[in-house]
Amino acid sequence: VIDSTKIASLRAAFQGRLITAPEEQAPFLFDWRKRWKGRALAVVQPDTAQDVASILRWCNATHTPIVPQGGNTGLVGASTPDPSGTAIVLSLARLNRVRSVDAINNTLVAEAGCILAQVQQTAAAHSRLFPLSLAAEGSCTIGGNLSTNAGGVQVLRYGNARELCLGLEVVTAQGELWDGLRGLRKDNTGYDLKHLFIGAEGTLGVITAASLKLFAQPAAQMTSLAALRSPTHALGLLTLAQKHLGPALTAFELMSRNCIELVLRHIPAAQDPFSAQHPHYVLLEASDAEGQDHAQARFEAMMHEALEAGLIDDAVVASSLQQSAHLWALRENITEAQAKEGKNIKHDISVPISAIDRFVEQTNATLEQRFPGIRMVVFGHLGDGNLHYNVSPAPGVDPEQFMQQEPEVNAVVYEAVARFSGSISAEHGIGLLKRDTNAALKSPVELALMQTIKRALDPLGLMNPGRVLPTAESLR
Ligand code: FAD
Ligand code: MLT
Ligand code: ZN
Repeated sequence: VIDSTKIASLRAAFQGRLITAPEEQAPFLFDWRKRWKGRALAVVQPDTAQDVASILRWCNATHTPIVPQGGNTGLVGASTPDPSGTAIVLSLARLNRVRSVDAINNTLVAEAGCILAQVQQTAAAHSRLFPLSLAAEGSCTIGGNLSTNAGGVQVLRYGNARELCLGLEVVTAQGELWDGLRGLRKDNTGYDLKHLFIGAEGTLGVITAASLKLFAQPAAQMTSLAALRSPTHALGLLTLAQKHLGPALTAFELMSRNCIELVLRHIPAAQDPFSAQHPHYVLLEASDAEGQDHAQARFEAMMHEALEAGLIDDAVVASSLQQSAHLWALRENITEAQAKEGKNIKHDISVPISAIDRFVEQTNATLEQRFPGIRMVVFGHLGDGNLHYNVSPAPGVDPEQFMQQEPEVNAVVYEAVARFSGSISAEHGIGLLKRDTNAALKSPVELALMQTIKRALDPLGLMNPGRVLPTAESLR
């Protein structure tokens, strides 16, 4: 039963939007992959950072847990409440103003609830680029991007969300407002506190605004889809592209054939530009300060050299922005196509780039031998050593029965990640999904340091409890 006295007291403390009706709460209680369904005391939607501060003070006084939520596109079960119904979901959706843009200083201050696409468009309106780019950009928010230290398709050139942030405004777990929104590229004045909250997945405080870096808009942009035989060939193409293009290379995305099959099956407008089917593909993009003609010629010369060298078997180079968008649609729709196909076992791993091909070949072989007929849906940010190494059931296999095998599949993948000195979470974070696996892999020293920071900043344990760090129960 939801505690109505508590709701009345919350309403007295916060006059803004408070959602208590179950049907209205529903979209806030399910994660994007529909793996976790929770219940909330209330969904609270503050309009200002001061509102957030008063809500956090109320939560402190009443010991009410808080689950901060942006666009709810997170994939590790950290943006929705647990089934207890004791926590509030603090939705930042209405805290969504771009507060300022300084094109000379190349900074933009956005509130946490700003949708990523909105910030990209605002930057473009000032002839600037905000380069964070991921398939969820139409619904994920700046607060979520920073709290998960999101990666995406341009990390190769511009870095993760962490590298794109110069300052934060945060409401602490005690309900105090910290204005750290400096837009300085150099500011050595004590501990760099923003880095505690970036990547903390809502477990240390609530990000209410961020001062973000802007970049020059590229004059030329070239996109190509290359067809190739193996991840080893893809690494050869990466080395060639980096030799020719240097920092102009902005994206380098690997896709196995199964990815293309899924997108062609589930996304009506998708087209395969090749007549033949190929085992692997790389979508690569370069952007340059120099004029399109010269840059395009250099890019095409490189693709020809790759063909001559036998690194690729075919390639299309986009000759228009529209054709570039069609090629990107094959990449950006894989996650959605996978969700439409049904349940699958997802991984978001990274290994040293030079080991990627051996990781794929050896782990595919082990999995295909242990689980005959599975479909390896392998794609991702090859330029960062980050793969979305996903396993879909063989056609016709009952997905529920297949998902029972998740622990065994995970054990094979995580053993291979360890063998190649990689990470079990390259960009999506830990949340609930990888909390205990991560705790088992971290050294006691590292885990103790994280617990010390957690206890210092959130002594009551109200911020997104049970996420990222193991609980006493889960360690038993
Ligand atoms: P939410 O899902 O709402 O929350 C994510 C986490 O941040 C939770 O722990 C939440 O508590 C916390 N949080 C949210 N807002 C705040 C705040 N203001 N203060 C404190 N904590 C907060 N991720 C990548 O890194 N790269 C990709 O390429 C990528 N592609 C994706 C493609 C698709 C189709 C989908 C569905 C997801 C993808 N993701 C990717 C995952 C997800 O989009 C990112 O993690 C994104 O940054 C989450 O933003 P959000 O606003 O949806 O956050
Ligand atoms: C992507 O790169 O598309 C994402 O990280 C989402 C996924 O892993 O499915
Ligand atoms: Zn990704």
